[in-house]
Amino acid sequence: MGAGRLTPPMPSYLLRLECSHCQQAHDARLRQTVCRGCGSALRAVYDLPRLRKDHPEPPWADRAPGLWRYEELLPLEHPTEAVRLGETQSPILTLDPPEGGADLRVLMKDDGVLPTGSFKARGMALAVSRARALGLRSLYVPSAGNAGVALSAYGARAGLRVRVYLPESTPASVGRRCAEFGAEVVSVPGTIADAGRAARAREPPESFDVSTLREPYRWQGKKTMGLELFDQFGPDRRPGAILYPTGGGTGLVGLWSAFEELRSLGWLTGPLPRLFAVQPERCAPVVQALKSGAEEVTPWPQPETVAPGLLVPSPFSSRAILGAVRASGGGGITVPDAEILRAQAELRHRQGVSVCPEGAATWAALPRLLAEGRLGSHETVLLYNTGSGLLYGRE
Ligand SMILES: Cc1ncc(COP(=O)(O)O)c(C=O)c1O
Ligand SMILES: [Zn+2]
Repeated sequence: MGAGRLTPPMPSYLLRLECSHCQQAHDARLRQTVCRGCGSALRAVYDLPRLRKDHPEPPWADRAPGLWRYEELLPLEHPTEAVRLGETQSPILTLDPPEGGADLRVLMKDDGVLPTGSFKARGMALAVSRARALGLRSLYVPSAGNAGVALSAYGARAGLRVRVYLPESTPASVGRRCAEFGAEVVSVPGTIADAGRAARAREPPESFDVSTLREPYRWQGKKTMGLELFDQFGPDRRPGAILYPTGGGTGLVGLWSAFEELRSLGWLTGPLPRLFAVQPERCAPVVQALKSGAEEVTPWPQPETVAPGLLVPSPFSSRAILGAVRASGGGGITVPDAEILRAQAELRHRQGVSVCPEGAATWAALPRLLAEGRLGSHETVLLYNTGSGLLYGRE
């Protein structure tokens, strides 16, 4: 290699951004938020036929584990763009099956090991990398908690200003963690929907909104959940069902777009996992819409739950979320708060596994899905744990 030669560009196959609803094309080399035509979320479109031709098999086997290894299917133009905090590959644990489900194979993907202790690192790593590359200096986000902490950390790493709008009910430890990373924290009465309204009313025009699905690249970061799962399982062994604790719903659209891309590439064949949205009984707009057959969610009145990340009464771009779950052949299930707390304690006491309440909701959902006959008795079921058991600290 000649002296002074630049690092080779990232081999991304990104073509453009496209509206997830009306398909209008948007230029990925410019700053984008939502569709200019209809206001829906923008998804990234890759040149999959060319990628398939260049690589009949996934090309990443010899690369370091972690989300950056999927560079062909990520939106970075150059490797130096990546804002890194040590995004390791998260493990898949085998759990003892629950009572009444002795023949189930129960696995848990544990994103609690990611930087800042939650899966939010995946989306924020990509969003902050792209934001910095596009020349943005100041970012803000309304957050139920963990997205704010992750943005604060990645923003600090990238040298960008960050403001986080937290609902008043957010555990105090979350605000402290954001502030420790140098972010400004604004506490807002009400839910994350109120925090979002307050943020948009107050922020200056040069400040950029990194809310779930209002910014195109968090979705791409969440997609690495599905790419990594496929990578860990290999092409022939995969779970029949994935139980996902659903708040804003980005995880579900991320998982599903990973599986769809892998299928288009011919790297994944056969049936795809069914996706189940798990929500708390007193804040379940996605499950409600899945049940009623609606195309969009109806905002949930007076939401409440012990799982702060699931306190999202009206997820943005819910069409995309509902579409992903329906296309997968999965569905929705609710769990009461008391069962979430019991599940969290049971996983700690009986299995030594410490998960956040959101992740515990998936363990609570298992017996309910079994009782309703929605899981086969011998199935492999993967529970997605979105964060560490230490997330909310002790007040
Ligand atoms: C720990 C945790 N789990 C799950 C969620 C919900 O994730 P999603 O927006 O992908 O539905 C959140 C969102 O804040 C969270 O913090
Ligand atoms: Zn549109």
